[in-house]
Amino acid sequence: MEKSTEIVVVGSTNVDMVARVAHLPLPGETIGEAEYSVAYGGKGANQAVAAAKAGGRVTFVSYLGEDVYADALLASFKEAGINTEYIRKLRGVSTGVALIFVSEAGENCIAVAPGANGLLQGDGVRELFPLIERAGVLVLQLEIPFPTVTALVEYAHSVGTKVVLNPAPAKKIPLDLLRQVDVLILNETEAAFITDKSFQEAEAMDMAQYLCGEGVQTVILTLGKKGSVVAGKGLAESIPSYKVKAVDTTGAGDTFCGAFVARWMEGSDVLASVRFATAAAALSVTRAGAQPSIPSKEEVLEFVSNEK
Ligand code: RIB
Repeated sequence: MEKSTEIVVVGSTNVDMVARVAHLPLPGETIGEAEYSVAYGGKGANQAVAAAKAGGRVTFVSYLGEDVYADALLASFKEAGINTEYIRKLRGVSTGVALIFVSEAGENCIAVAPGANGLLQGDGVRELFPLIERAGVLVLQLEIPFPTVTALVEYAHSVGTKVVLNPAPAKKIPLDLLRQVDVLILNETEAAFITDKSFQEAEAMDMAQYLCGEGVQTVILTLGKKGSVVAGKGLAESIPSYKVKAVDTTGAGDTFCGAFVARWMEGSDVLASVRFATAAAALSVTRAGAQPSIPSKEEVLEFVSNEK
């Protein structure tokens, strides 16, 4: 079948309830004077919004609950230009919620209550096959049931649709599945988790090449403010990041993934797409919130030209 440039993201939607605190709380500690805010998040939703804002043609598949947030979330996806035809609202459950602490240094820690995200499984998954067959790329994370991720990776691979997997939050992944992934985008924690190997930053390229040796086509290992390394057939490159003042790193990895796929589907090669994604992620950490921090394509291009 002729492939389109459509980006299909299947993943989670969360309402992020954020407490900005001077420092991340220690066990048993109560911190007063936290600043509270609510922002839209969820790794799947963040990546879908980032891809759409970067100029991609995006269909997002996600399950929402029966609560005050569902309609507002749906409206926000439509406003971002996302095709929402495959988003379902389920009765009797709540939309996913993430409780997030963000420190003054911009670091975070997150606990997720999956709600409706945990029900994205079963017959509904097979119904996605025609959509996936005609798409250019399928983008997945690990905030929905793992059997769903497995079934979708296997199907996409069998029909020649490219698969981009961001294995977050970190989980063990069978090698057999990794071999069906075209581009694996992961951070140091996720890489250590998947391979059972700890490594120093200086060994990041070795780690990325190790994962390629295990059968992944292309590995993009992100290193926060140190940029990323890219490994694959004929590829072994370190891509530096930009020096920015981090306000909130929540969703930076998702912005990277979404911006990468949008640029890649537009026809840029992997390295050029990683450079664009690096700029998008750098810009996102200068702003608060997951989805509110995601820049548009124009903002990224302007940032890159100012940094030259
Ligand atoms: O990757 C950041 C996201 O992780 C947040 O938006 C939160 O919802 C959690 O899923």
